[in-house]
Formats: sequence, C-alpha cells, structure tokens
Amino acid sequence: MSKPVLAIYYATETGNAETLARQAHERAVAEGWTATVSNISQLQPATLASHPLALFVVSTWGDGEPPSDATDFHYGLEKAPLDLSGLRYAVLGLGDRDYSDFNAFARKLDERLAALGAKPVLARVEADLDYEETYTQWADRLFPLIGEPSVTTV
Ligand SMILES: Cc1cc2nc3c(=O)[nH]c(=O)nc-3n(C[C@H](O)[C@H](O)[C@H](O)COP(=O)(O)O)c2cc1C
Repeated sequence: MSKPVLAIYYATETGNAETLARQAHERAVAEGWTATVSNISQLQPATLASHPLALFVVSTWGDGEPPSDATDFHYGLEKAPLDLSGLRYAVLGLGDRDYSDFNAFARKLDERLAALGAKPVLARVEADLDYEETYTQWADRLFPLIGEPSVTTV
C-alpha cells in the first residue's frame, strides 16, 4: 500500500516558518515519504482538492494578518467554494503572545480548511517565540499519526 504525497507549505515574513517547514520536509523524506515543500504563495487554493495530505507552517504578521506574500492565497481560499473532504491536514502557527491577535492567520486558515470539509490529523498548534521547541513537540505527535494506514489510505 503506497503512501500519498505529503505536501508541506509555509507562510513566512522573516524565515522562521520556512526553516521549520524545511525541517518537517527533511523528516518526512527520512521517514520514507514522498514530500514537497513550498511557499504557500505558490499554491492555488483549488490545488488543495487534489492533495490527500498537507502540512501548513504559517506565521502571523501586521495586526493578525498573513505574511505579505500569503495574502493572495488567504483571500483566495476564503472565497473559493471548494470541496476539501479528501484532504487531511495539520496547521502549526508561529506568533507572539505580545500581539493581541495571537496566531490569527493560523487560526483563520485552520477554520477555513475545516469549513471546506478538510479533516485535521491533529488539532492546530499555536507556537509562541519558543517555536523551535513547539515544532519538535508538534512533529513528534504528527508523524506517528500520518503514518497510520487508516490515515494514509485516503
Ligand atoms: C511587525 C510584527 C507584527 C507581528 N504581528 C503578529 C500578530 O499579529 N500576531 C502574532 O501572533 N504574532 C505576530 N508577530 C510575531 C511573528 O509571527 C513571529 O515573530 C514569528 O515567529 C515570525 O515568523 P516568520 O519569520 O516565519 O514570519 C509579529 C511580529 C512582527 C515583527
């Protein structure tokens, strides 16, 4: 039984989310996945309908906004009437609790994916400035879950 492609997307302003997404990609490949890692700005929302499994590592900027080059994706997804019932996903948000809209983009992305029928592999995790530790905990929970045959045979 072959595993599906694991698509990893990041949204970043200063590179933290990209660094973590690339770590997740390295781990995925080491665990035998066929995996891709891309900036979310390269993703057309409709493409998600053909993905069985996707990970999102996204930061929040401005006043609870996506990173600047993720804006088009964000508003495109908000408007798109997609059926994402074939997609399993996980969201790791990067933020800073000193901002009033902590991890707002991660929350909006997660809520929109769920509203379109996508199924979370595990609940959204919202990292603060200690994001490297939070990433490790997230990945240690995530990878065993996506490796389960019931999850991978979408
Ligand atoms: C100008 C500025 C605005 C920010 N706005 C928010 C925000 O509204 N909510 C939040 O949770 N974090 C906010 N942050 C924190 C960043 O999301 C955090 O530093 C994150 O690690 C950046 O990741 P990146 O390098 O992948 O973009 C802000 C940081 C800066 C410098």
